[in-house]
Amino acid sequence: MQIVFNDTNTDFKVCFIQNKDLSKFDDDEFFKINDYKGVGSICNLAKRTLYIGLSEELTYASLIASVGSAIKTIKNLNIKSLSIEYLNIGCEFYSAYAIIYGVLAALYEFNKYQKEPKNSKIELISLLVNASDDIKEGVRLAEVLANACEDVKNIVNEIPSTYNQLSFEQDALKLAKEFDLECNIYSDDYMQKEGMNAFLAVNRASAYPAKLIHLAYKPKNAKKRIVYVGKGLVYDTGGLSLKPADYMLTMKADKSGAAAVLGILKAAKLLNLDYEIHGIIGAAQNCISEKSYMPDDVVISKEGVSIEVRNTDAEGRLVLADCLSFAQDLKPDLLIDLATLTGACVVGLSEYTSGIMGYNEELQNEFYENSKRSGEYTCVLHFNPHIKELIKSKIADVSNTGSSRYGGAISAGMFLGEFIRKEYKDKWLHLDIAGPAYLEKAWGENSYGASAAGVRMNIINLLRMARRK
Ligand code: BES
Ligand code: ZN
Ligand code: ZN
Repeated sequence: MQIVFNDTNTDFKVCFIQNKDLSKFDDDEFFKINDYKGVGSICNLAKRTLYIGLSEELTYASLIASVGSAIKTIKNLNIKSLSIEYLNIGCEFYSAYAIIYGVLAALYEFNKYQKEPKNSKIELISLLVNASDDIKEGVRLAEVLANACEDVKNIVNEIPSTYNQLSFEQDALKLAKEFDLECNIYSDDYMQKEGMNAFLAVNRASAYPAKLIHLAYKPKNAKKRIVYVGKGLVYDTGGLSLKPADYMLTMKADKSGAAAVLGILKAAKLLNLDYEIHGIIGAAQNCISEKSYMPDDVVISKEGVSIEVRNTDAEGRLVLADCLSFAQDLKPDLLIDLATLTGACVVGLSEYTSGIMGYNEELQNEFYENSKRSGEYTCVLHFNPHIKELIKSKIADVSNTGSSRYGGAISAGMFLGEFIRKEYKDKWLHLDIAGPAYLEKAWGENSYGASAAGVRMNIINLLRMARRK
């Protein structure tokens, strides 16, 4: 995709309507005919123009979503070039990012398994503005994030018979080679030696070996060391605590956290961020065989904490527990895990919103504020000692499920907290992306399927931390 500025000679034009103000348009009649109320989008094919009516409460999220859903209405027309108005809703950099990301994200479609896939023919986008440096950089951010997110979506959308633990290994090696990242991959022997029994237990029934993947981007003079950990369940059947059929569907997306970690590394490298960034991926498959780990089992994690397995479907936290130990050995200044961890988070926060958890309220609030600029929705969920009571075990140090059916997102977060050493408690954030990671109904800029949840919020959090924007 080529992105240029101020080229008005395009096949199609996209304009904004703010505050339902139709006065700047000469074809008033056209809006009347269509009973247009000023929100949503409308397309005048004769004039080759698309009008996007913006909601009155304008945020970066709503701008991205409005642009995205409008673009979806025209993306399969025979259009090669598109010009789009620029609109500043607060900050030039993030406004330009929002508009261009909205367009690019809306063009994505996972259709490789269709006989006649429909793909947009758009090759050129022209942003109608005399671009300042801020605007140019915002456009660049959008391009980088759209590109990284596309890779992530392709991984998450890929089907379980094709995408397994070895696929993660290959994708990590490919990324490392192409972008000059360090990459180390560990399997059974190493993990056994390191006592990563919680992680290994989850993968025991799989036909493929578990993979612990460590990628690192190490620019010179890095300011801080940031470590991301991703849940990479290539499939989650629930194991012996088998999921009902309806709930199992979409569990190919249980690798979304790990895929997002790959996307974050790629974007960080493309943006030359001056942080040392590590990505840890726990790739496993939760299935059933005579080797399955079982409810009632007790596993001893790398941290030395024993875990009573009361439900084999609460597997993500077992994989993450050991990965978080590995991550802390790297002595991070900031440690963030991303996981499609709980259905409870979806129930509590919706399919649109990720949960932010941890012990450091300031860090959580800062992340929440920063994520708003990305267009991703987040919400801070607070720990409390009563919820910690719910994960007590009578026979081990901790139970992998809460004893109440309430508060499942937080009890899962607090379970992970049991594996965070004292010195890292204030440096850790847990992001439960179970809601927005995979869409069964497309919304806003997102198409059906994977959304690459977590990539944009984390990259923008890093930009804000570095005071780059
Ligand atoms: N992968 C699921 C969580 C999930 C559910 C992600 C829906 C995306 C959409 C996770 O491994 C899981 O099964 N969690 C259980 C935990 C329970 C057994 C304590 C859940 O949420 O039901
Ligand atoms: Zn599960
Ligand atoms: Zn899972």
